[in-house]
Amino acid sequence: MRPGTRFVAGPNPSAEPSHVKPLDLSTTYRTPDFTEAVKSIEALAQGEAEASNPVYARLYNANVRDFEERMTALEGGVDSVAFASGMAAISGLLMAARSRGGHIVAIPPLYGGTHHLLESGILDVEVTWSRPEDAATAVRPDTALVLLETPANPTLRLRDIQTLAHAVHPAPLAVDSTFATPALQQPLGLGAGFSLHSATKFIGGHGDALGGVVSTTDAGSAALLRQVRIATGGVLHPLAAHLLTRGLKTLPIRMAAAQASAQELVRRLEGHREVVDIGYPGRGEGAHLLHTQMSGPGAVLSLRLKGGPARADAFAGALEVVTPAVSLGSVDTLIQRPAALTHRTMGEAARGSAGIPEDLLRISVGLEDVEDLWDDLATALASTAAEPVQGRGGDPLLRRGQGNLAGAGQG
Ligand SMILES: Cc1ncc(COP(=O)(O)O)c(C=O)c1O
Repeated sequence: MRPGTRFVAGPNPSAEPSHVKPLDLSTTYRTPDFTEAVKSIEALAQGEAEASNPVYARLYNANVRDFEERMTALEGGVDSVAFASGMAAISGLLMAARSRGGHIVAIPPLYGGTHHLLESGILDVEVTWSRPEDAATAVRPDTALVLLETPANPTLRLRDIQTLAHAVHPAPLAVDSTFATPALQQPLGLGAGFSLHSATKFIGGHGDALGGVVSTTDAGSAALLRQVRIATGGVLHPLAAHLLTRGLKTLPIRMAAAQASAQELVRRLEGHREVVDIGYPGRGEGAHLLHTQMSGPGAVLSLRLKGGPARADAFAGALEVVTPAVSLGSVDTLIQRPAALTHRTMGEAARGSAGIPEDLLRISVGLEDVEDLWDDLATALASTAAEPVQGRGGDPLLRRGQGNLAGAGQG
């Protein structure tokens, strides 16, 4: 079966008469035979994926399991465990790691929330921050996990999964593959022990469901993750599971369309007089991994403009089609400044050493007409330029910016 078909069909053609899996919102299940129920509750509490009776929705839900099985097939693993959000998935992974030594090697940059969780001490894990090339040296006998993002949020750098997985073995490599999704990257096939996603992003795709998921090549790790999930309660809601499953069916098509627009915008932004730097897979660090590790560059880019953070903020505020908002991977294009928002909690020094400039903007390209996106970006670039951009008569660059140069970024 080719990828497009696999995303639509899923691994288990339904034996049920309904065309779409029915939504099961029940929190509890009838257990008329307590002896039978004991067997089910014990099996689920020990991390089994299913039992003859679901007993209680924190232990099992059919829509959540359907989403997990689809993710397992798409990631090429043996099992997946879904959580209430991407952060719940990462917390679950870290809590499971606690019972396997508790030392984590983390490779920056990571999403600001992940960085904060690792640094905060909330989960009582010991963290060694490392460059990819030093990760093998940072690994100790009690290292339970090596954690990295590729593409990295928000720099869009690519890191070599295969080389790193090999270098840190036997410590398992966990790859946050949120920006790539299974449509563009399969970390488990490259030697990673875990592939994880904030499913809130491209997988859901419409900005209306929070979720997270960890896929793994190790059945024992999946059972441990389920035990952690049952004990701590970070379960995915069945309605969210339904929405994420629906999102999976259109993921390759959405990703291809958004990616084509992102590539076109990068092409037009390149060399623009107001643009200082662009981050996008295939450029800069890890460029050689595009088309080998990752089959396409995806739909998120980062951008630095002349004029520093104030100019960046003025630019984002001047956009009318693009929405200034955190998150990514939605049908609509979103822009945010990581130092102000998603990576705020890290603090400036940590951002500096992770290579996240204060004026960096992150744009997640959606499904609008690319010409409308370009008109919007070009107009805001012109209207917030320190020096007025001389446009030709009727130049779309100045259509909205004309006479509105006040409030431009300083220098
Ligand atoms: C790369 C990455 N991982 C994890 C998360 C956390 O996901 P969630 O917001 O679903 O908890 C995010 C959120 O932005 C992210 O960008």
